[in-house]
Amino acid sequence: MKKLGIVTSGGDAPGMNAAIRALVRLSAWNNLEVIGFLRGWEGIIKNNFIPLNARAVSGILHLGGTILKTSRCLEFKTREGLEKAAKNIEENDLDGLIVIGGEGSVRGAYELSKLTDVKIAVLPASIDNDVYGTDETIGFDTAVNTALTEINKIRDTAISHERTFIVEVMGRKRGFLAVEVGLTAGAEVILVPEVEYDEKAVLETIRKNASIGKNSSIIVIAEGVGKTTSLAVAIEKNVGVEVRVSVLGYVQRGGSPTARSRYLASIFAAKAIESLLDGKSGIVVGIQKSEVTSISLEESCSNEKPLNIELLKLAEKLAI
Ligand code: F6P
Repeated sequence: MKKLGIVTSGGDAPGMNAAIRALVRLSAWNNLEVIGFLRGWEGIIKNNFIPLNARAVSGILHLGGTILKTSRCLEFKTREGLEKAAKNIEENDLDGLIVIGGEGSVRGAYELSKLTDVKIAVLPASIDNDVYGTDETIGFDTAVNTALTEINKIRDTAISHERTFIVEVMGRKRGFLAVEVGLTAGAEVILVPEVEYDEKAVLETIRKNASIGKNSSIIVIAEGVGKTTSLAVAIEKNVGVEVRVSVLGYVQRGGSPTARSRYLASIFAAKAIESLLDGKSGIVVGIQKSEVTSISLEESCSNEKPLNIELLKLAEKLAI
């Protein structure tokens, strides 16, 4: 192993910079040359990169976003795009490629691995926490805490005005963020894409809350449920309480990474570098039951990470 490429891809997540820093510094310890492709897969397709040495990653550990930029690259989903990327990897004489990204990036890396011999490892980083093969992704903890901080403020106004708030958090396909935020914010209702939407049950909960003197409620809903506005209308009309909607949006993607997100970035980077130096390839590193692990890209792509439904039941019990 002499030369490594690094790329951040898909939605940004707090801690991606911590991961870049750790990868570059650990590469320096192992005398590896590093280049960073710009704007995700697009940078590999267009052969757009910068050299990265230990000094180039100074002062970025505490920053959200990614200094390498990122994008959602449609061309990479085509055979032509993948072939261009594979060709550029070869022409740059890369021995390894480390991808920092979420579930879509794992899929992209897997497709690319079929066209090139370069050793590939993925560091799971996404606020959605949706990568199979790791209990937690880089950035998830930061996003949970960002959303929680906002909901704490919303709780103040909800109590003062005796209102029901519907707070929409990110998660187009998965509800990991909604569950963890909902549980820790003490939400009265949590709605996720994995559980069939039952409007009547929500109305019943809010009605019951009002009847026992619980005059304010927080409903945490993942954006992927797609019922935020209609639910607000239905509660006002059928239960007769005042409802307000708050869509937290992209604040959840930015901000300085928490200690946990930086910690995961550091230990995942160490595992990825060590694995590639050991000759392993086609892997996603992760943490499972507190142990740093790796599984194959194929296994990660062919399984869906299960959501712990028990946590929803726990949240319900705690919100009486
Ligand atoms: O990063 C994951 C995610 O935040 C999803 O929860 C969300 O649906 C999506 O990204 C939106 O991102 P973009 O607007 O960048 O496509």
